[in-house]
Amino acid sequence: KRAGPLAVLREALPKRNAASTGIGHTRWATHGEPNDQNAHPHSDETGALALVHNGIVENAADLKRYLESRGHQFQTDTDSEVLAVLIADEYEQEGGSLADAVRRSLVRVSGTYGLIVVHQDLPGELVAARNGSPVLIGVGDRERYVASDAAALVPYTRQVLYLEDGEIAHLTAKGHEIQDLSAARTERDTAVIDAEAVLASRGDHAHFTLKEIFEQPEAVERVLRGRIDRRFNTAHFGGLNLSARELLAFKRVKLLGCGSAAIAAAIGAHTIEQLARIPADAESAAEFRYRNPIIDPETLYFAISQSGETFDTLAAVQEIQRKGGTVLGVINVVGSSIARECGAGVYLHAGPEIAVVSTKTFVSTLVALSLFALYLGRMRDVSPAVGEQLVEALVALPGQLEGLLEREAEFAAVASACAGFDRAYFVGRGAGYGLAQEGALKLKETSYIHAEAYPASELKHGPLALIDPETPTFAIVPDDELLAKNLATLAEVKARKGPVIAIGHGSTLDAPMDHYLQVPKSHALLDPILMLVPLQLIAYHAALARGADVDRPRNLAKSVTVE
Ligand code: G6P
Repeated sequence: KRAGPLAVLREALPKRNAASTGIGHTRWATHGEPNDQNAHPHSDETGALALVHNGIVENAADLKRYLESRGHQFQTDTDSEVLAVLIADEYEQEGGSLADAVRRSLVRVSGTYGLIVVHQDLPGELVAARNGSPVLIGVGDRERYVASDAAALVPYTRQVLYLEDGEIAHLTAKGHEIQDLSAARTERDTAVIDAEAVLASRGDHAHFTLKEIFEQPEAVERVLRGRIDRRFNTAHFGGLNLSARELLAFKRVKLLGCGSAAIAAAIGAHTIEQLARIPADAESAAEFRYRNPIIDPETLYFAISQSGETFDTLAAVQEIQRKGGTVLGVINVVGSSIARECGAGVYLHAGPEIAVVSTKTFVSTLVALSLFALYLGRMRDVSPAVGEQLVEALVALPGQLEGLLEREAEFAAVASACAGFDRAYFVGRGAGYGLAQEGALKLKETSYIHAEAYPASELKHGPLALIDPETPTFAIVPDDELLAKNLATLAEVKARKGPVIAIGHGSTLDAPMDHYLQVPKSHALLDPILMLVPLQLIAYHAALARGADVDRPRNLAKSVTVE
């Protein structure tokens, strides 16, 4: 166990090692500082039992008091150590198998866990358990593996089985047994991992972030593949499991997600409402689940998630289902927890996204939601002619994206002009405001420049006070009915000597500005997809200029499987 990258641990381990069993956990600091002591594995005070734990024990304080009253001592402030001591105590006092001790202990635990336990008296044995955090078992020839992500298993085996919540597995090199919290034995068939879908290499690109930005044309082709119906100028969906009659009975659409997925949800809601003329809105999945939401049987819910493992999004799905609502997933990772929980929805098929910041899956999500808007719209009152315009615009996207990616140097030059500033504003109206939010999020995550998104209309209600020659404003200025209003906003910023970078459609804009980036026009509802590319590449190059770790921003995780 070591703080820092895996190389530090490798350095600390003996070159030769006779052990045939091992556990480890690369974790993100939720409890305590990231130092050696707080690193996993955690053990009981005798060091006989050790475990790795992904998740949060909610009643850790109560359990700790109980264990202290039994004479136990603790070395760390982590909830994971409480689990180790609890299980060791149960195993010592009550006997039986380690798997039984884990099961009896977990009955007392509230919270989430993906867990692997080892004991020094049982070399060659592992016990794994799952509640709310992904755990899958890899089945090799004379070896067994446990992981939280299929990508980790691919170099060793393609045969896997997924643990369900409340299940415990006992593993040796040659076999595995699964039981649930009531000790009932369960049989589970193995599934085969699609290696191509879970593995990725950087190829010739300097970073995964850049590689994934450049994969966007292909990602759009993949999400469109087989989903365009030219005969009726609509979309096809294989996995919604809802008939036209059922879809038409919904009166409202609500989309939920976290981080970039929540922003994609907001832009998608705008598209669905505008095209299908049905009230649609988006909300952070975490905010939603904690406000005791009213679940309306006439609302169609969507859960948006690249990984399909974001804890708050999963919990929102369960809340909707528990209250009898209908929820569809828009997910990239096949077989992930949210995908399985929803049981129906749309897979993005964008291929693995490795960089912490979302790029290609954000674009794929926007395309998937536009396809849904078209599908629902054509069932309601969108005409075949309008449907055809959208279909043509969708199939033109990959080529237009390619053209934008060829202009990387132009966007990099803007990034280098802005990399010296410490704060920035991003403004837009309607879907352009959503885009401003995504642009600001990308810039702050990768370059650590403080970036704030504002509806352009709200600028004069506060932020204008902060505009000065050191505070650039990135403005989304599509050629739409709000063009004149957007140009007026730019004039307001320029009047305060704020640098302006505008992204628009015309060959020029009738407004004062420092940089203008012209992007190709699409259907108005798809314009955000093309206007995003300059923002992504500016964030990437600003991060490079500032020497930041673009693929792995400090303090962030790709997949947040805890609350
Ligand atoms: C984390 C990532 C973000 C991502 C969010 C939601 O915060 O750093 O890039 O947008 O989780 O992830 P999901 O897998 O649910 O889309």
